[in-house]
Amino acid sequence: RTKAQAISTMAAEEENVGNLKKLLARLVEASLQSTVPDVEVEPLVAASAGNFGDYQCNNAMGLFSKIKDKKPSEFNIPRAVGQAIMKNLPASNMIESTSVAGPGFVNIVLSKQWMAKSIERMLIDGIETWAPKLPVKRAVVDFSSPNIAKEMHVGHLRSTIIGDTIARMLEFSNVEVLRRNHVGDWGTQFGMLIEFLFEKFPNFEDVNETAIGDLQAFYKASKARFDSDADFKDKAQKAVVRLQGGEPKYRQAWAQICEISRKEFDQVYQRLGVQLEEKGESFYNPYIPGVIETLTSQGLVTESEGARVIFLDGFNIPLIVVKSDGGFNYASTDLTALWYRLNEERAEWIIYVTDVGQSQHFEMFFKAAKCAGWLPTDGSSYPKTSHVGFGLVLGEDGKRFRTRSSEVVRLVDLLDEAKTRSESVLIERGKDKEWTREEVVQTAEAVGYGAVKYADLKNNRLTNYTFSFEQMLNDKLAIESYLYFHLIFYLLVLCGSCTIICFCEHLLRCMIAVAIGLPPHLRLMSFEQGNTAVYLLYAHARICSIIRKSGKDIEDLKKASCGWTGAIVLDHADERALGLHLLRFAETVEEACSNLLPNVLCEYLYNLSEHYTRFYSNCQVVGSPEETSRLLLCEATAVVMRKCFFLLGIAPVYKI
Ligand code: ARG
Repeated sequence: RTKAQAISTMAAEEENVGNLKKLLARLVEASLQSTVPDVEVEPLVAASAGNFGDYQCNNAMGLFSKIKDKKPSEFNIPRAVGQAIMKNLPASNMIESTSVAGPGFVNIVLSKQWMAKSIERMLIDGIETWAPKLPVKRAVVDFSSPNIAKEMHVGHLRSTIIGDTIARMLEFSNVEVLRRNHVGDWGTQFGMLIEFLFEKFPNFEDVNETAIGDLQAFYKASKARFDSDADFKDKAQKAVVRLQGGEPKYRQAWAQICEISRKEFDQVYQRLGVQLEEKGESFYNPYIPGVIETLTSQGLVTESEGARVIFLDGFNIPLIVVKSDGGFNYASTDLTALWYRLNEERAEWIIYVTDVGQSQHFEMFFKAAKCAGWLPTDGSSYPKTSHVGFGLVLGEDGKRFRTRSSEVVRLVDLLDEAKTRSESVLIERGKDKEWTREEVVQTAEAVGYGAVKYADLKNNRLTNYTFSFEQMLNDKLAIESYLYFHLIFYLLVLCGSCTIICFCEHLLRCMIAVAIGLPPHLRLMSFEQGNTAVYLLYAHARICSIIRKSGKDIEDLKKASCGWTGAIVLDHADERALGLHLLRFAETVEEACSNLLPNVLCEYLYNLSEHYTRFYSNCQVVGSPEETSRLLLCEATAVVMRKCFFLLGIAPVYKI
């Protein structure tokens, strides 16, 4: 018991708050040690869905079946185990009360005072004190990674947005992140491009991007030439060899083409505020022979139909590491890049962000790396590789997202449109008369680009999503009724009764809304308010304006009251619910980051704005006796929201 108590006090004091779930898990762990000293069990703690507690310990049932046959025990039913776990929980000022429900769930109600104090501490010490703690020091995030001269399409946009968020979450968790742009700058397309460049511009050294114009058009033209002219094709293939052999003229032409592409990519990164370091495929080229040599000496590489391949259990095709013409390919480069990242860069977690279409490629070379002994085989200990796959971006016609003339959408144009659209909304609202030009532009960018990012990140990344400016820039309704009913219809067909209940509930709400005469847009609001960046950014701006209008200096307020007793009071149910949600920030980022799921953070942010709305509609802030406490709660909400925005790569807006 004393040991258990020591652990728990240490835990609570050492980390102050941080990850609530983990803090409670430590208390449960201590309790388990005294309840069943000779049984090894992982503490199971989860946020409660019901109204009986804030968190729940779910160990009793599993533990009961584990011990019941072993020896005669004092526990005749699982509930008795639950009761013992509850009784043995070390005393902690985190906990207000506990109870056992059903077959043995231990419900934990957190202490309001402790919660309030933790929020105050965060306001003083900064939100960094709520950062996750991960067991890694250095990670590589390989993302964006478009191909030179070929199109940078919405798939690359997804990779850029998702990869940036993952990098930001890891950086927030104090992991050193090597943000790598693994650009495709070494493919066979270069032979054709270089020959075409020589042909079009005999003085190619003097040629700049304006002369070449659109690199994608240039690529198309050279491809057409390649496909139609056998002589040209022959020259192009020889050019690849000369380039890879290092001939200066070819190298120079190659570098020139890369540079033009790079400038175009940079425009996108700059608009999105994304930092990346380019280490393209060509970078790893000199290391490939050595790596293949090592793999060969380990007996992993076999000769097959002229190529050199690695056969892997569980795959019906081998991993080709040297093509039959002696050239290297995507897999040779990726294996080598992995070797480099593990051995030269000493990264412990290497994360690749591409569409799910490439899953097999990643599975295969990860497996090869395990066979070679570069990575542990269990897949969970470090060093570790993860493929972060994502689905397609669809157009409103349900097909792959393209322009009307079925061209690839230029990302710069797309981002410009997002900005223009949000700017015209601001002008419609007369903001151009109220604000400076600079403020209008800044807000338009924050809202426009934020909308594009959030629309992407809020979905589980594996699902396809439909790109729609109307929806992503909507500040009120997330789901148009049309879409909503479609969704309900499919859900009904898919999962039967449970959904019928939800559906009936919604229908009832809708009928009541009609009966009491709510205007149509409010009727729908009862379903789901806009789950869009615009809505969330406005929610944040509104909080800031409440604080501004109070006339109080929030820094003074923090200094004067936090840390003393009871600056924040969570007596009203909606204050408490908001406070609890704020405190769940740490465990949520940790989950989003460990599972590489940005949508978890989006959902948290959306729910935060909902909790805030409820609090604000039911608790008067300015002019109430609880003004100081409530202003501090507003500030804490704004701080957490801003950190969420930051992690999602969205610039906050302070006024609307
Ligand atoms: N260039 C590739 C593409 O456009 C993505 C590269 C991803 N990274 C990697 N190490 N394979 O599909």
